[in-house]
Amino acid sequence: MTAVTHDLAHDAIRAVDWSNGAVKLLDQRVLPQREEYLILEEAPALANAIRMMAVRGAPAIGIAAAYGVVLAARLAYRRAKNDWRSAIEVDIERLRAARPTAVNLHWALQRMQEKFVEVKNDPEPILLAEAKRIHDEDITANKRMGALGAELIHGKTDVLTHCNTGSLATGGFGTALGVIRSAYARGVIQSIYACETRPWLQGARLTAWELMRDKIPVTVIADSAAAHLMQQRCVRWVIVGADRIARNGDLANKIGTYSLALSARAHDLKFMTVAPTSSLDMSAATGADIPIEDRPSGELLELEGHRLAAEGALAWNPVFDVTPARLIDFLVTEKGVVPAPDAAKLAALMQDAHS
Ligand code: MRU
Repeated sequence: MTAVTHDLAHDAIRAVDWSNGAVKLLDQRVLPQREEYLILEEAPALANAIRMMAVRGAPAIGIAAAYGVVLAARLAYRRAKNDWRSAIEVDIERLRAARPTAVNLHWALQRMQEKFVEVKNDPEPILLAEAKRIHDEDITANKRMGALGAELIHGKTDVLTHCNTGSLATGGFGTALGVIRSAYARGVIQSIYACETRPWLQGARLTAWELMRDKIPVTVIADSAAAHLMQQRCVRWVIVGADRIARNGDLANKIGTYSLALSARAHDLKFMTVAPTSSLDMSAATGADIPIEDRPSGELLELEGHRLAAEGALAWNPVFDVTPARLIDFLVTEKGVVPAPDAAKLAALMQDAHS
């Protein structure tokens, strides 16, 4: 059976890379129509690429920002050998402000800044090694989560996913899509449904592109078809990623995730979120402490520059929402699986992670 023999090594897509002294980004705004790369040599251009969604997805943003610190430090060191640390602060703040919800961005910048104390002369070698480590660790975490999450799925099921959580959203392989890749390879997934994910269409454009490249069949649905799908087909799992998880287990993810979790509970389906511990924000007590990004109204009111909505209509465009912990059946991290996550379980997970 093709599903069982499917090879996980298929995953060859890299959204972010370090290439010839520059950051190479696969421009996700023009996929799947065009495969174009941006080569960025300065941190402000990289911050802009994050803000404009050329690179997106919580872990991928963090990795890109880590490489951005290397770019910033290189330039600052060329300009001011003794003062490069303070000279790059503006660039670091620009990277940090590029997108507010994904905590991986803050986490990666913090990790890069912690390396500054080790630098004696030229910062580039030490910082580049750290950025590459962050990147490699993310891929390793994804493969581990893929295996852990797939073990939870038994029998044959259809699954529903939201947004894009694959190689394009991470260092490689993916979080929720990594679990789906692994579970498909084990033959326990019958059909994969992907919400189109309005308004950026990460599901229809990016998830479908990744799965098609891997020769894994996928069916795209309108976001509003999700509850009907759960009622009509044999979907037993909803599997999504997370941009930030508060210490009580509430999670912020792509707008629409909360509706999916509510519908999943109403239909007695299992809801799994898959995220590395770099997405945990132990300083956020609950989901109410997570900043939710509002993006420009044009993203809703227009399509490729052409007005869709009636002239004069306004738009509200929050691009993430918060799913309360009580709706989450499993949180899969690289440190282990947490069933029905809550504050005590997450504290124990992070304690073990640090010991
Ligand atoms: O706005 P985006 O495309 O950056 O949103 C991405 C998501 O919501 C993903 O689900 C999330 O980052 C987890 S992906 C590993």
